[in-house]
This record gives sequence, structure tokens and C-alpha cells, in this order.
Amino acid sequence: MRSLLYLFGCLIVLGLILFSCTKDKGRDPELAFSDKALLDSCKNSIAFKYYKDKPDSVYTGVHGPHGAFKLKFNKIAFAALTASGKLPLTAKFPNGAMVVKEVVSGGEISLFALMYKHNNSWLWAEIEPNSKVLYSVNKESSVCTSCHNQAGNRDLVTSFNFY
Ligand code: HEC
Repeated sequence: MRSLLYLFGCLIVLGLILFSCTKDKGRDPELAFSDKALLDSCKNSIAFKYYKDKPDSVYTGVHGPHGAFKLKFNKIAFAALTASGKLPLTAKFPNGAMVVKEVVSGGEISLFALMYKHNNSWLWAEIEPNSKVLYSVNKESSVCTSCHNQAGNRDLVTSFNFY
């Protein structure tokens, strides 16, 4: 009887160890910055405010590669903007800031182009609303930054220069 109790006790301890290991794995902090997690964030409309607080404004996008778009900022990013809606000239967005270009065609969102501030640098991605990844956040991002680095950018955000 005592050995049965002992065995039972051991099983419980083993179970607890296994449980905590899988839990640690589930908490991998990098998962928060996967394509899927970033797409989910883009779709979470209550987390965002549109440029200059104008949710209906569609910009031509003639200066960039994507065409017509709406521009939105998550609350962390929005809080870094001045009353005129822009980032101060020499300021940087804080970690956790997210800037999303909602590319629109025929009144529908056809693509999210996004930048997310993580460890003081931007992560870049392009993902369709149907989850198709055109440019993964895990890819090397010089394609994006080489162009966003252009004159007039503020912390690599270029829209402030044109709109
Ligand atoms: C050829 C230049 C060019 C390349 C390459 C480019 N962008 Fe842009 N992007 C722009 C310009 C210019 C804007 C400003 C809006 C506009 O006119 O389209 C912009 C706007 C954005 C915005 C809105 C914030 C801002 O900077 O205004 C996001 C987000 C964005 N681009 C993501 C990306 C991602 C992700 C990539 C790489 C996969 C990328 N861009 C590649 C030129 C470029």
C-alpha cells in the first residue's frame, strides 16, 4: 500500500514537471512577433487609431510600391505623435509601436504592410488578410529599409513626408 502511494506521488511529480516544460515552450516570447501574431494584431481594429484620427482617409500611395492605402498606428505608436499627427522630427517610436499600411483595392483591404518596434529596431512584414505571407517578418529587411531610409523619413516612417 505504501509503495503504491509512493508510485502515485512520483507520477504526480513527473506530471507537474512535464506540464511546466510544455508551458514554458508555449510562452516562447518570440511567438508574439511571428507573422501570424502580427497579422492578428493588424486585424484587431480597436487597438489602432488612423493617421490624424481620420479613419476614412485613403492616401494615393504614389510615392511607394503598394498603391492606395490607409495608415494606422497602435496605441503605443499613436501616443508618440504630436497634435498635428506626426512624429517629432528627431524622435523615435518606443518598443511595442506598430505602424500599419492597409493597402486597399476596390474598397477592401488587400494587404497589410507593417512595421513593429522590437528591441529598438523595426520588424517588417507584408501579409494578406487571408494569411498569405508575401514578406515574412523573419526575412532580412534591407529591401524595406533601403527605401524607407529616404530623405524626410522620421524613424523610417515615410508617410509623414508626403501626407
Ligand atoms: C520603393 C520604396 C519602398 C519599398 C521597397 C518599401 N516601401 Fe514601404 N513605403 C514607401 C513609401 C514612399 C511609403 C509612404 C506611403 C506611400 O506613399 O506609399 C511607404 C509606407 C509604408 C508603411 C506605412 C508607414 C510609412 O513608412 O509611411 C509601411 C508599414 C510600409 N511602407 C512597409 C513596408 C515594408 C514591410 C516593406 C518591405 C517588405 C516596404 N514598405 C518596402 C516606400 C517603400
